[in-house]
Amino acid sequence: MQNPSDVKRAALHVAQTMPPLGPAPVGMVLGTGLGALADGLTDAWSMQYADIPGFPRSTVESHAGRLMRGRLHGRDVVLLCGRFHLYEGITPAQACMGVRLLGELGVARLILTNAAGGLSPLFRTGSLMAITDHINMTGQSPLTGANHDAWGPRFPDMSRVYSPRLLALAHKTALGLGIRLEQGIYAGLPGPQLETPAETRALRILGADAVGMSTVMEAVAARHMGLEILGLSCITNVNLPDCMAETSLEQVIAAAGAAEKTLRALIAAILADPDL
Ligand code: HPA
Repeated sequence: MQNPSDVKRAALHVAQTMPPLGPAPVGMVLGTGLGALADGLTDAWSMQYADIPGFPRSTVESHAGRLMRGRLHGRDVVLLCGRFHLYEGITPAQACMGVRLLGELGVARLILTNAAGGLSPLFRTGSLMAITDHINMTGQSPLTGANHDAWGPRFPDMSRVYSPRLLALAHKTALGLGIRLEQGIYAGLPGPQLETPAETRALRILGADAVGMSTVMEAVAARHMGLEILGLSCITNVNLPDCMAETSLEQVIAAAGAAEKTLRALIAAILADPDL
Protein backbone atom coordinates (compact mmCIF):
# COMPACT_ATOMS: atom_id res chain seq x y z
CA MET A 1 0.00 0.00 0.00
CA GLN A 2 1.03 3.51 -0.77
CA ASN A 3 2.24 5.62 2.11
CA PRO A 4 -0.41 8.37 2.02
CA SER A 5 1.97 10.93 3.45
CA ASP A 6 4.38 10.42 0.51
CA VAL A 7 1.56 11.13 -1.95
CA LYS A 8 0.31 14.09 0.07
CA ARG A 9 3.80 15.58 0.22
CA ALA A 10 4.20 15.20 -3.55
CA ALA A 11 0.72 16.65 -4.17
CA LEU A 12 1.37 19.59 -1.87
CA HIS A 13 4.60 20.39 -3.68
CA VAL A 14 2.91 20.23 -7.10
CA ALA A 15 -0.12 22.24 -5.92
CA GLN A 16 2.11 24.95 -4.48
CA THR A 17 4.18 25.22 -7.65
CA MET A 18 1.56 24.68 -10.36
CA PRO A 19 -0.86 27.42 -11.48
CA PRO A 20 -4.16 26.65 -9.72
CA LEU A 21 -6.59 24.29 -11.41
CA GLY A 22 -10.06 25.43 -12.41
CA PRO A 23 -13.17 23.43 -11.60
CA ALA A 24 -13.55 19.79 -12.72
CA PRO A 25 -10.07 19.16 -14.11
CA VAL A 26 -9.47 15.98 -16.12
CA GLY A 27 -6.42 13.79 -15.59
CA MET A 28 -4.75 11.85 -18.35
CA VAL A 29 -1.99 9.26 -18.54
CA LEU A 30 -0.19 9.14 -21.88
CA GLY A 31 0.94 5.69 -22.97
CA THR A 32 3.84 4.48 -25.10
CA GLY A 33 4.19 6.47 -28.31
CA LEU A 34 1.25 8.70 -27.35
CA GLY A 35 3.21 11.60 -25.84
CA ALA A 36 2.22 13.93 -28.68
CA LEU A 37 -1.24 14.05 -27.11
CA ALA A 38 0.28 16.82 -24.98
CA ASP A 39 0.82 19.00 -28.07
CA GLY A 40 -1.91 21.53 -28.38
CA LEU A 41 -2.03 22.21 -24.66
CA THR A 42 -2.45 25.94 -24.08
CA ASP A 43 -1.17 27.77 -20.99
CA ALA A 44 1.11 24.76 -20.68
CA TRP A 45 3.12 24.30 -17.51
CA SER A 46 5.25 21.30 -16.73
CA MET A 47 7.35 19.77 -14.01
CA GLN A 48 9.85 16.94 -14.34
CA TYR A 49 9.00 13.85 -12.30
CA ALA A 50 12.53 14.13 -10.88
CA ASP A 51 11.47 17.43 -9.25
CA ILE A 52 8.45 15.90 -7.50
CA PRO A 53 9.48 14.65 -4.05
CA GLY A 54 9.23 10.89 -3.68
CA PHE A 55 8.23 10.32 -7.29
CA PRO A 56 9.77 7.28 -8.96
CA ARG A 57 12.06 7.77 -11.95
CA SER A 58 10.95 6.42 -15.29
CA THR A 59 13.56 4.09 -16.75
CA VAL A 60 11.79 3.67 -20.08
CA GLU A 61 13.20 5.92 -22.78
CA SER A 62 9.93 6.01 -24.72
CA HIS A 63 8.29 7.67 -21.68
CA ALA A 64 8.96 11.35 -21.07
CA GLY A 65 8.68 11.62 -17.30
CA ARG A 66 6.93 14.89 -16.60
CA LEU A 67 3.67 16.19 -15.27
CA MET A 68 1.97 18.79 -17.44
CA ARG A 69 -0.89 21.11 -16.68
CA GLY A 70 -2.73 23.22 -19.20
CA ARG A 71 -5.92 23.68 -21.10
CA LEU A 72 -7.24 21.45 -23.88
CA HIS A 73 -10.48 22.39 -25.54
CA GLY A 74 -11.67 24.52 -22.70
CA ARG A 75 -10.81 21.99 -19.98
CA ASP A 76 -8.14 22.16 -17.37
CA VAL A 77 -6.11 18.99 -17.75
CA VAL A 78 -3.26 17.44 -15.83
CA LEU A 79 -1.21 15.02 -17.89
CA LEU A 80 1.14 12.33 -16.72
CA CYS A 81 3.53 12.17 -19.66
CA GLY A 82 5.24 8.89 -19.00
CA ARG A 83 4.16 6.18 -16.60
CA PHE A 84 5.73 3.55 -14.42
CA HIS A 85 5.57 -0.15 -15.13
CA LEU A 86 6.03 -3.11 -12.82
CA TYR A 87 8.74 -4.46 -15.14
CA GLU A 88 10.93 -1.51 -14.14
CA GLY A 89 11.32 -3.23 -10.79
CA ILE A 90 9.07 -0.91 -8.83
CA THR A 91 6.29 -1.72 -6.39
CA PRO A 92 2.60 -1.56 -7.39
CA ALA A 93 2.29 1.48 -5.10
CA GLN A 94 5.02 3.29 -7.01
CA ALA A 95 3.41 2.33 -10.32
CA CYS A 96 0.27 4.25 -9.37
CA MET A 97 1.81 7.15 -7.46
CA GLY A 98 0.93 9.43 -10.41
CA VAL A 99 -2.78 8.69 -10.38
CA ARG A 100 -2.88 8.93 -6.58
CA LEU A 101 -1.27 12.35 -6.97
CA LEU A 102 -3.91 13.37 -9.52
CA GLY A 103 -6.62 12.24 -7.11
CA GLU A 104 -5.06 14.35 -4.34
CA LEU A 105 -4.96 17.34 -6.71
CA GLY A 106 -8.73 17.10 -7.08
CA VAL A 107 -8.96 15.25 -10.38
CA ALA A 108 -12.16 13.20 -10.44
CA ARG A 109 -12.12 11.98 -14.04
CA LEU A 110 -9.19 10.13 -15.53
CA ILE A 111 -8.37 9.10 -19.09
CA LEU A 112 -5.90 6.22 -19.19
CA THR A 113 -4.28 5.63 -22.57
CA ASN A 114 -1.95 2.83 -23.55
CA ALA A 115 -0.39 0.93 -26.43
CA ALA A 116 -1.62 -2.65 -26.48
CA GLY A 117 -1.37 -5.82 -28.47
CA GLY A 118 -4.63 -6.86 -30.09
CA LEU A 119 -5.97 -10.32 -29.34
CA SER A 120 -9.35 -10.02 -31.01
CA PRO A 121 -8.97 -11.12 -34.65
CA LEU A 122 -11.31 -8.27 -35.56
CA PHE A 123 -8.71 -5.68 -34.57
CA ARG A 124 -6.09 -4.17 -36.87
CA THR A 125 -2.86 -2.34 -36.22
CA GLY A 126 -3.96 1.21 -35.48
CA SER A 127 -7.39 0.24 -34.15
CA LEU A 128 -8.59 2.21 -31.14
CA MET A 129 -10.25 0.27 -28.35
CA ALA A 130 -12.25 1.62 -25.45
CA ILE A 131 -11.57 -0.55 -22.41
CA THR A 132 -14.76 -2.05 -21.00
CA ASP A 133 -13.05 -4.06 -18.26
CA HIS A 134 -9.69 -5.52 -17.37
CA ILE A 135 -8.12 -8.75 -16.16
CA ASN A 136 -5.32 -8.06 -13.71
CA MET A 137 -2.80 -10.80 -14.45
CA THR A 138 0.12 -9.19 -12.67
CA GLY A 139 -0.55 -11.15 -9.49
CA GLN A 140 -0.18 -7.85 -7.64
CA SER A 141 -2.37 -5.07 -6.30
CA PRO A 142 -1.60 -1.49 -5.33
CA LEU A 143 -3.99 -1.99 -2.40
CA THR A 144 -1.93 -4.67 -0.63
CA GLY A 145 -1.13 -3.67 2.95
CA ALA A 146 -2.85 -1.26 5.31
CA ASN A 147 -5.82 0.53 3.78
CA HIS A 148 -5.96 4.31 3.77
CA ASP A 149 -9.66 4.79 4.53
CA ALA A 150 -9.67 8.43 3.40
CA TRP A 151 -8.87 7.23 -0.13
CA GLY A 152 -11.30 4.36 -0.31
CA PRO A 153 -12.65 1.19 1.29
CA ARG A 154 -10.66 -1.92 2.22
CA PHE A 155 -12.53 -4.05 -0.33
CA PRO A 156 -13.39 -1.65 -3.14
CA ASP A 157 -16.02 -2.71 -5.64
CA MET A 158 -14.59 -3.42 -9.10
CA SER A 159 -17.85 -4.16 -10.92
CA ARG A 160 -17.47 -0.99 -13.00
CA VAL A 161 -13.82 0.02 -13.08
CA TYR A 162 -14.26 1.80 -16.42
CA SER A 163 -17.15 4.23 -16.22
CA PRO A 164 -20.13 3.14 -18.35
CA ARG A 165 -21.01 6.84 -18.62
CA LEU A 166 -17.62 7.78 -20.07
CA LEU A 167 -17.62 4.70 -22.30
CA ALA A 168 -20.98 5.77 -23.77
CA LEU A 169 -19.65 9.30 -24.22
CA ALA A 170 -16.57 7.95 -26.03
CA HIS A 171 -18.74 5.90 -28.39
CA LYS A 172 -21.10 8.80 -29.05
CA THR A 173 -18.15 11.10 -29.75
CA ALA A 174 -16.42 8.57 -32.03
CA LEU A 175 -19.62 8.08 -33.99
CA GLY A 176 -19.98 11.82 -34.45
CA LEU A 177 -16.43 12.08 -35.77
CA GLY A 178 -16.63 9.00 -38.00
CA ILE A 179 -13.90 7.29 -35.96
CA ARG A 180 -14.16 3.53 -35.61
CA LEU A 181 -13.91 2.76 -31.91
CA GLU A 182 -13.69 -0.87 -30.88
CA GLN A 183 -14.31 -1.94 -27.32
CA GLY A 184 -13.01 -4.80 -25.27
CA ILE A 185 -11.27 -6.29 -22.28
CA TYR A 186 -7.67 -5.42 -21.50
CA ALA A 187 -5.41 -8.02 -19.89
CA GLY A 188 -2.61 -6.44 -17.85
CA LEU A 189 0.56 -8.54 -17.57
CA PRO A 190 3.79 -7.70 -15.74
CA GLY A 191 6.02 -8.11 -18.81
CA PRO A 192 8.54 -7.02 -19.95
CA GLN A 193 8.68 -9.98 -22.30
CA LEU A 194 5.94 -10.15 -24.90
CA GLU A 195 3.59 -13.12 -24.93
CA THR A 196 4.24 -16.54 -26.39
CA PRO A 197 1.68 -17.99 -28.82
CA ALA A 198 0.44 -20.31 -26.03
CA GLU A 199 0.01 -17.37 -23.65
CA THR A 200 -1.75 -15.44 -26.38
CA ARG A 201 -4.19 -18.31 -26.89
CA ALA A 202 -4.73 -18.60 -23.13
CA LEU A 203 -5.47 -14.87 -22.84
CA ARG A 204 -7.96 -15.10 -25.66
CA ILE A 205 -9.68 -18.08 -24.03
CA LEU A 206 -9.88 -16.04 -20.82
CA GLY A 207 -11.81 -13.40 -22.71
CA ALA A 208 -9.22 -10.70 -23.28
CA ASP A 209 -9.33 -8.58 -26.43
CA ALA A 210 -6.06 -6.73 -25.89
CA VAL A 211 -2.93 -7.18 -23.80
CA GLY A 212 -0.41 -4.81 -22.32
CA MET A 213 1.94 -4.13 -19.43
CA SER A 214 0.34 -1.10 -17.84
CA THR A 215 -2.96 0.46 -16.80
CA VAL A 216 -4.36 -2.15 -14.40
CA MET A 217 -2.44 -0.94 -11.31
CA GLU A 218 -3.46 2.65 -12.07
CA ALA A 219 -7.06 1.70 -12.73
CA VAL A 220 -7.37 -0.23 -9.45
CA ALA A 221 -5.82 2.63 -7.44
CA ALA A 222 -7.90 5.29 -9.19
CA ARG A 223 -11.12 3.33 -8.76
CA HIS A 224 -10.27 2.77 -5.10
CA MET A 225 -10.19 6.57 -4.81
CA GLY A 226 -13.54 6.83 -6.59
CA LEU A 227 -12.23 8.36 -9.80
CA GLU A 228 -14.27 7.92 -12.98
CA ILE A 229 -12.10 6.20 -15.56
CA LEU A 230 -12.08 6.12 -19.35
CA GLY A 231 -9.54 3.67 -20.78
CA LEU A 232 -8.40 3.94 -24.38
CA SER A 233 -6.01 1.45 -25.99
CA CYS A 234 -4.18 1.98 -29.22
CA ILE A 235 -3.72 -1.41 -30.83
CA THR A 236 -0.13 -1.38 -32.08
CA ASN A 237 0.11 -5.01 -33.20
CA VAL A 238 -2.23 -7.95 -33.49
CA ASN A 239 -1.26 -11.25 -31.90
CA LEU A 240 -2.83 -14.34 -33.40
CA PRO A 241 -1.60 -17.55 -31.74
CA ASP A 242 -1.60 -19.60 -34.94
CA CYS A 243 0.44 -17.11 -36.92
CA MET A 244 2.31 -15.02 -34.36
CA ALA A 245 4.23 -12.16 -35.89
CA GLU A 246 7.28 -10.76 -34.17
CA THR A 247 6.75 -7.47 -32.36
CA SER A 248 9.35 -4.86 -31.47
CA LEU A 249 9.22 -1.71 -29.35
CA GLU A 250 10.03 0.30 -32.49
CA GLN A 251 6.94 -1.13 -34.18
CA VAL A 252 4.80 -0.40 -31.14
CA ILE A 253 6.01 3.22 -30.99
CA ALA A 254 5.57 3.73 -34.75
CA ALA A 255 2.04 2.29 -34.76
CA ALA A 256 1.01 4.32 -31.69
CA GLY A 257 2.46 7.44 -33.31
CA ALA A 258 0.48 6.77 -36.49
CA ALA A 259 -2.80 6.34 -34.59
CA GLU A 260 -2.13 9.21 -32.21
CA LYS A 261 -3.76 11.87 -34.42
CA THR A 262 -7.06 10.00 -34.46
CA LEU A 263 -6.88 9.35 -30.74
CA ARG A 264 -6.10 13.02 -30.18
CA ALA A 265 -9.15 14.07 -32.21
CA LEU A 266 -11.32 11.69 -30.19
CA ILE A 267 -10.00 12.88 -26.84
CA ALA A 268 -10.28 16.54 -27.90
CA ALA A 269 -13.96 16.08 -28.77
CA ILE A 270 -14.60 14.20 -25.51
CA LEU A 271 -12.98 17.02 -23.54
CA ALA A 272 -15.03 19.59 -25.43
CA ASP A 273 -18.30 17.78 -24.66
CA PRO A 274 -20.33 19.50 -21.94
CA ASP A 275 -21.53 16.03 -20.81
CA LEU A 276 -18.03 15.06 -19.70
N1 HPA B 1 1.89 -7.42 -25.67
C1 HPA B 1 2.06 -6.77 -24.50
N2 HPA B 1 2.17 -5.45 -24.43
C2 HPA B 1 2.09 -4.75 -25.57
C3 HPA B 1 1.91 -5.38 -26.81
C4 HPA B 1 1.80 -6.78 -26.86
O1 HPA B 1 1.66 -7.41 -27.91
N3 HPA B 1 1.86 -4.39 -27.75
C5 HPA B 1 2.00 -3.21 -27.10
N4 HPA B 1 2.14 -3.43 -25.77
